[in-house]
Amino acid sequence: MTDARVDPAGTRHLRALVTGASSGIGAAFAHALAARGRDLVLVARSTAVLEAVATDLGAKHGVRVDVVPADLARAGAVDDLVADVAARGIEIGTLINNAGFGTHGFFAELDAARERDEVAVNILAVVALTRAYLPAMVARRSGGIINVASTAAFQPVPYMATYGATKAFVLSFSEALAEEVREHGVRVVALCPGQTATAFFTDIEESRVGSARSAEQVVATGLRALETGRVVAVDGFANTMMTGSVRLAPRSLVRRVAARIERPSSLKPR
Ligand SMILES: NC(=O)c1ccc[n+]([C@@H]2O[C@H](COP(=O)([O-])OP(=O)(O)OC[C@H]3O[C@@H](n4cnc5c(N)ncnc54)[C@H](OP(=O)(O)O)[C@@H]3O)[C@@H](O)[C@H]2O)c1
Repeated sequence: MTDARVDPAGTRHLRALVTGASSGIGAAFAHALAARGRDLVLVARSTAVLEAVATDLGAKHGVRVDVVPADLARAGAVDDLVADVAARGIEIGTLINNAGFGTHGFFAELDAARERDEVAVNILAVVALTRAYLPAMVARRSGGIINVASTAAFQPVPYMATYGATKAFVLSFSEALAEEVREHGVRVVALCPGQTATAFFTDIEESRVGSARSAEQVVATGLRALETGRVVAVDGFANTMMTGSVRLAPRSLVRRVAARIERPSSLKPR
């Protein structure tokens, strides 16, 4: 199978780099890309888990997989990661900016350092990795970037204020870049999952995973968008309807409905 399915006009020696590949959607991206014959670079903090994924994918699909552990919340982590990848003689043809997390609660009481880390992982690392690998893609006139945003990107999310804002950034950033690089043969996708059955909800009170889609479904939506040149890829019919209706509804109503849905039960009703 050729690389062209996920990396239009890409060449085989170029690797796909997946952040947050130790679990959930990122691990599913690693599996799907390896099944398509892509050599990989896997990034996350959980080194042992990444090593196990790498061994599994190498054995199953015969692909080369490098593990580069990184805490993307740490200042300078992306510079170190990019230097490590370059020192291994690896070039990146596809970048999957997937690592991310969300905090939930009354913003005034949330842990300040964790809120800053959320911005660092969900926004700063995405910008830095994109800035690091996009120039070579433009020079090659091939390559693709999938930035994992969320359906939370389409409206403010009270009680997940930082998370919603980070994903709105990712959506806007990705759409803008997609337009800039379109004529340079590079594709950028903002992948917008709704609730997906992963470890994401461990930190979030009142998980509503009952109606969740699978990580594999989300990944299929993302890779299909990269192949077809779709820029904003909302995963699943219900999520597509929901984000469409949010665009049409008055913003004040959208804010209030979102607050009712996300309000932690520990907060007294107004
Ligand atoms: N699940 C959902 O319902 C949902 C919905 C919309 C969007 N999303 C987005 O989808 C993406 C993947 O989430 P998921 O659902 O697959 O959650 P997950 O299973 O919790 O996976 C999150 C991944 O991000 C990595 N990560 C977290 N903090 C990191 C850090 N400081 N440095 C490096 N890696 C870090 C984690 O690896 P380590 O812990 O090993 O570092 C893990 O591999 C996120 O961007 C999330 O916002 C998820």
